[in-house]
Amino acid sequence: MDIQRVSNTIQEALNAQMTREAHAAQIYLSYAAWAADNGFDGVANFLFRHAGEERNHMMKILEYVLQRNGKVKVTAIPAPDADPKNLNDCFEKVLKSEIENTEEIYKLVSMSMAEKDWATWNFMQWFVKEQIEEETLALNLLAKMKIAGGENAKGDALYAIDRDLANAPDDARSAEDVTTADP
Ligand code: FEO
Repeated sequence: MDIQRVSNTIQEALNAQMTREAHAAQIYLSYAAWAADNGFDGVANFLFRHAGEERNHMMKILEYVLQRNGKVKVTAIPAPDADPKNLNDCFEKVLKSEIENTEEIYKLVSMSMAEKDWATWNFMQWFVKEQIEEETLALNLLAKMKIAGGENAKGDALYAIDRDLANAPDDARSAEDVTTADP
């Protein structure tokens, strides 16, 4: 009896999504390092924490594949893009990356629906909701940047944004605390 509870197609897509979440973590790590290097310690702290969240997303998918008696495939993670040109560019890149990730998640939702794999469909709803939050976060950062002058923001305005992010609540959790039942 085949006890694998996800199809090979869904399993492959979940494994690919796992790598994409790891890639997202690398992207946030690289932008965080860039921010720290440019004196934006508040932004760096925020992005470092977010890298941890992305890793948790990766772990959540890994755990789900195992739970469904599937095979986890850990592969190489693509390198992040070039460093941002400025803070506005950094937040634009964050938004772009989140939107691309949302689109991939929607594909998985569509696939699971087409296969009537309701377990995976249900599992993926957590990610659909999470992406709304993550896109909102990035959109809010860009909205603040726009008020501060966008690409031309400088001085006090940049300082204020950096200080705001330094004081942003830390809701990231460590990977070992994350389970599919309690993400
Ligand atoms: Fe795991 Fe930011 O998406």
